[in-house]
Amino acid sequence: MPNAAPIRSEAPQARSAPDLPRGAQAGTPEGIEALIAAMTLEEKAGQLTIMPAALAPSLANAANPEAISGTPSQQEQAVREGRLGGVFNGDSADWHRRMQHVAVHESRLGIPLLFAADVIHGFRTIFPVPLAEAAAFDPELARRTARAAAEEATAVGLAWNFAPMVDVSRDARWGRGVEGAGEDVLLGSLLAAARVEGFQGARLDDADAMLATPKHLAAYGAAAGGLDYAGADVSERTLREVYFPPFQSAFGAGALSTMAAFNDVAGVPCHANSWLMKDVLRGEWDFEGFVVSDYTGDFELIAHGLAEDERDAARLAFAGGVDMSMSSALYARFLPDLVRAGEVDEAEVDASVRRVLKLKAALGLFEDPFNRLAPARTEKGHAPTHRELAREAARKSLVLLKNEGGLLPLARSAKIALIGPFAAGHDHLNGPWVLFGDPRQATSVEDGLRAAMADPQALTVAAGCAAEAEIAGGIDEAVSAARAADVVVLVVGEGERMSGEAQSRLDIGLPEPQRALVEAVRAVGKPTVLILKCGRAMTLDPASEASKALLVAWFLGVETGGALADVLFGDHAPSGRLPVSFPRHVAQSPFHYDRKITGRPPLSLQHGEEFKARYRESLNLSAWPFGHGLTYGDVAYADLDAGAGRMAWDGSLEVAATITNRGAREAEELVQLYIHDRAASVTRPIRQLKGFKRVTLAPGASERVAFTLTRADLTFVGPDLTWIAEPGRFTVWIAPSAETGVEGEFELLKP
Ligand code: BGC
Repeated sequence: MPNAAPIRSEAPQARSAPDLPRGAQAGTPEGIEALIAAMTLEEKAGQLTIMPAALAPSLANAANPEAISGTPSQQEQAVREGRLGGVFNGDSADWHRRMQHVAVHESRLGIPLLFAADVIHGFRTIFPVPLAEAAAFDPELARRTARAAAEEATAVGLAWNFAPMVDVSRDARWGRGVEGAGEDVLLGSLLAAARVEGFQGARLDDADAMLATPKHLAAYGAAAGGLDYAGADVSERTLREVYFPPFQSAFGAGALSTMAAFNDVAGVPCHANSWLMKDVLRGEWDFEGFVVSDYTGDFELIAHGLAEDERDAARLAFAGGVDMSMSSALYARFLPDLVRAGEVDEAEVDASVRRVLKLKAALGLFEDPFNRLAPARTEKGHAPTHRELAREAARKSLVLLKNEGGLLPLARSAKIALIGPFAAGHDHLNGPWVLFGDPRQATSVEDGLRAAMADPQALTVAAGCAAEAEIAGGIDEAVSAARAADVVVLVVGEGERMSGEAQSRLDIGLPEPQRALVEAVRAVGKPTVLILKCGRAMTLDPASEASKALLVAWFLGVETGGALADVLFGDHAPSGRLPVSFPRHVAQSPFHYDRKITGRPPLSLQHGEEFKARYRESLNLSAWPFGHGLTYGDVAYADLDAGAGRMAWDGSLEVAATITNRGAREAEELVQLYIHDRAASVTRPIRQLKGFKRVTLAPGASERVAFTLTRADLTFVGPDLTWIAEPGRFTVWIAPSAETGVEGEFELLKP
């Protein structure tokens, strides 16, 4: 990191500003031009600079240990001198008010500040981590939780959100999958748009609207080896088919900022990638917003081996299309000089400043810089409606992988041994990327279960071990608790700091102390429900896998305990589905359902065929496939009908199947539609999700579920790297997961 104070404080060469536009006038197109014409180079660079909020160094430091924030008075002075355009990750309305006052009334140009933050899945009321929420396969739910988060966050003045994270993530070793929507392009695109709509609300200038930042552009999730920050050596076809669509969907929904990714793509770091930021983003997608660096990503061009020094890094990042520099202060320090030396064109700087000022205007900040800070606006954190929404979202995020012998739901009168490092207490409930939520507000698993039991005393709790360490005597205590109970509920998995940024893993199984605990408890022989807390797909050891019931609970947020009780005791049926494939072994990574078929696919599900695409030890299949998840009903799929089996070039095709609940309890089923293109001019995935629908079926009930396909669903990035469709035969499935379902075929006819 640069070691200088982030913002130098010599006064800019101020031209007199008495007749410059102020207030709403300054935010008009003419007003913005007048401001730009009057700005010094230092003031321009200031608008292109954002720093961690000095008032909350502990917050900023907790998230980003290497942050340089300056002191509050230094930061105030920088604002007064027009050298800072915004601050981020503060949460004090009073301090924001004070800083805004300085910007508007004490700086020469009176340009309002932009207050930003990482409000990833809730502000005070913490909702399930985005990966968990993706399991609900419910864009409307994602829109609602994003809206609630923005309502809370804007009440302290925040106007710009560094979310949603829309990186497709297909490698379970990579820790940041927890922040996104998982491995699928369609689901990721739908959730990206929904979250943007939720954060931004009806109009950007509403007091409760937050500008959204789909991030990180691009292919951050394709980090080689699953190692965070590593390069992504992906083809342009894969970029266009897999990594770009969620961004395009987010921009289509109105997002007007984006963040460059830390990684390089095919050798060019995203922070210096003008093909990505200029040709594609602005040229092809007509993006009119601005690009911010990811933290010190501009400075990191030195370590990447692209830039000679800090000045060079500033030059390369700016030339690469990064409009605003976060945290490194490189633009504040070097842009003016680069312009004076003729190495950066001032017109380009003006264009970036114009983008930023336009967005400040769109957010209503010129008209009323205090619009989000009105004292009448009180924080709505933990409003009952938000808690209810958190409980609904948490419930819908739960994925039941297995329920042998109908062990779940449990009787409220059962004697339960609740065992595991996450059984009690408020830690490890919210997830790795929460800056502003108070963990003590979260309902623990223990409290949630007790509150729902006939006799709260019939619950015994034993930790057994810590997330990654043994506890002396812990296993003995857990074993005695198990012996005395009717049923064991084991809560194991990842601690909340085991996924997230920089938390890549070599082993995606349970940490050793937990494996020992599960084995010891299993040896007692009681029926066991294993609840898996995780921020990624995990592999399960034999003892865990042998549990009668397996429930994936991710990190569920403030309503963890209540939501688990709702489902464990049967008030609600589980309805979530895996948004990421759970592989059999970590070494399959990156593993995703829509991989390519290869020239030598195994001919059967028998292992051992020679010279086939398999590992010596296993077929390359999942342990639990993408899209899988049970309810308390027993659902069967039958009678796929693909109509006449032909789709006219400009026509459509209805595909339907009969879904029946053969069970004794109501079923909530997520019916999925997949296709496979059998012969195309480039290889196509084994399957691709093309739609999903939720149906609720009473015991014994059947429903015909139909989907309509058109040519648009059959397109891919062809040999010349543009989207095309080709006539020919397709396989189609209506299915409860990416590896099962009823199958048919159809043909796309020639035009
Ligand atoms: C993360 C970003 C985040 C930024 C600001 C970085 O470390 O990669 O996702 O928005 O910090 O907190």
